[in-house]
Amino acid sequence: MMKLGNTRALNAFVAGCFMAASAMASDQTEPRNEVYKDKFKNQYETWHQTSESEEIVDALAQDPNLVILWAGYGFAKDYNKARGHIYAVTDVRNTLRTGAPMTDTDGPMPMACWSCKSPDVPRMIEEQGEDGYFKGKLGSGGAEIVNSIGCSDCHEKGSPKLRISRPFAERGLDAIDMPFDEASRKDKQSMVCAQCHVEYYFENTADKKGWVKFPWDQGTSVEDMEAYYDAIEFSDWTHALSKTPMLKAQHPGYETWMAGVHGKNNVSCTDCHMPRVTAENGRKFTDHKVGNPFDRYEETCGTCHTQDKAFMENLTKERQHNVKELQLKAEKQLVQAHFEAAAAWEAGASEAEMAPILKDIRHAQWRWDYAIASHGVAAHAPDEALRVLGSAVDKAADARVKLAQLLASKGVKQPIAIPDISTKAKAQAVLGMDMDKMRADKEAFKQQVLPKWDAEAKAREATY
Ligand code: HEC
Ligand code: HEC
Ligand code: HEC
Ligand code: HEC
Repeated sequence: MMKLGNTRALNAFVAGCFMAASAMASDQTEPRNEVYKDKFKNQYETWHQTSESEEIVDALAQDPNLVILWAGYGFAKDYNKARGHIYAVTDVRNTLRTGAPMTDTDGPMPMACWSCKSPDVPRMIEEQGEDGYFKGKLGSGGAEIVNSIGCSDCHEKGSPKLRISRPFAERGLDAIDMPFDEASRKDKQSMVCAQCHVEYYFENTADKKGWVKFPWDQGTSVEDMEAYYDAIEFSDWTHALSKTPMLKAQHPGYETWMAGVHGKNNVSCTDCHMPRVTAENGRKFTDHKVGNPFDRYEETCGTCHTQDKAFMENLTKERQHNVKELQLKAEKQLVQAHFEAAAAWEAGASEAEMAPILKDIRHAQWRWDYAIASHGVAAHAPDEALRVLGSAVDKAADARVKLAQLLASKGVKQPIAIPDISTKAKAQAVLGMDMDKMRADKEAFKQQVLPKWDAEAKAREATY
């Protein structure tokens, strides 16, 4: 859906037509961040400092419930918390979720998984069109997607001008009547983040196989997106225990920010995560070390609020604690519902008997995931997080009431026992996951395939 006067879309379209067959380099995207080391010294150096956020936090080890909730899906294998932007390519290569693609055509994951990791994504789209970019498995892009999140993800080539570098993000913003080209400077400062920190799914239509789409056609609230997914009967996977057609929320940070008090007052992502700071020479610039706003309190929160840092940090911690508490309550109900549904199937329940129960489980877990997968929600929209988590608990309870009746009618003794899932390893063992094999395969992939990808990329970039 290309709008007239939209030169970026037109260029991408033309590029798609002409370049599909040739390997012509994009003239709109410089994917290599180092190129700007001298020209934009302060921005480059602070961007590079995202490397200081290097800690890897294993979310499954911290909370083994997650393994059960994502049973049958990649996230049950491996899931770490977010860290600095500079690690995005490294982390997607290393996670067990992307498996060990020894050849270009090996799965398990599609090309779309690169989409929020690198300025090589817009480069490839400009060179091959979305049709070319989204074709095939993750492995086929390994030698192409090598530069981590950087300048060209958010800027026009060699310029401070902000841009939306991904056509699918542009379509998403158009769907909510916020076309980027007509947006204010303030709006744009958040929209560049909305290219990645959003809910999305992989389309599967006649002409768009595996394309990224934001499910915003009916709106961006948790209910709007749930209705959207239900209407197209979309599911990300079928749950290994309960056989529920599940939805996996990605990271609807932009959506939940909009629902919070700062989003409503148009305090941008940049106001808190990329503040204006003063360089040694006294000139102002934008700090590109996207990270924790409390690391630069005076330039972030402190520009608008008079409370001191300790007060605001404690308040945020308190909110994180409250959200976590309700999150764990929802998880407890959901874990039980998945095991009880498995028991009902085993006792011979029919599809018709299970349908309303699975619908409740689907909606409950979608809501739980929407609330917590939008990292930072306790800071961005604590009220919304608690509201959505409350509805997750409620829907899980609906499922469990129905399950109790169904199990009783089948003569199954209750309560259904929950196996020991007190650690990540135990929970994965309950699901029969062969973690040793996955880890060994990954090691072989890292040793044999990654050097080839890097060498190929180096040779290609040498021609730029
Ligand atoms: C995640 C998005 C993002 C990335 C990645 C990014 N920038 Fe920026 N950049 C911004 C935003 C937002 C602004 C502020 C725009 C405004 O003031 O409206 C900005 C501003 C700038 C400016 C204008 C001067 C200033 O400091 O405000 C320059 C120059 C710049 N960036 C260079 C770079 C370079 C070089 C890189 C890569 C090393 C980079 N940017 C990476 C989002 C980004
Ligand atoms: C091209 C996609 C992309 C864009 C654009 C983007 N991000 Fe990210 N962001 C990511 C990914 C992917 C990660 C996780 C990286 C990892 O863990 O390897 C991340 C991580 C983060 C983190 C966690 C950092 C840490 O040290 O823990 C914050 C905060 C963040 N992003 C905020 C922003 C803001 C604010 C913007 C806009 C100015 C933005 N991001 C733009 C993809 C993106
Ligand atoms: C009012 C200030 C504010 C605004 C506006 C804001 N954030 Fe945040 N954000 C925070 C705070 C505070 C945290 C929590 C930091 C912590 O405790 O680690 C956070 C956390 C995050 C995290 C999780 C970081 C992690 O490592 O877990 C991401 C990602 C993020 N924000 C992205 C965004 C995006 C994208 C936007 C705009 C759509 C945005 N933020 C707008 C203040 C803000
Ligand atoms: C660009 C200005 C701006 C920045 C930066 C900013 N805020 Fe706010 N904040 C507002 C506005 C506007 C409101 C809503 C009106 C009001 O309550 O004064 C608000 C409201 C709040 C509230 C009261 C509403 C609520 O959530 O209970 C808290 C707490 C708060 N901000 C914390 C923070 C923290 C923490 C940071 C930094 C991480 C931050 N703010 C950064 C402008 C800002």
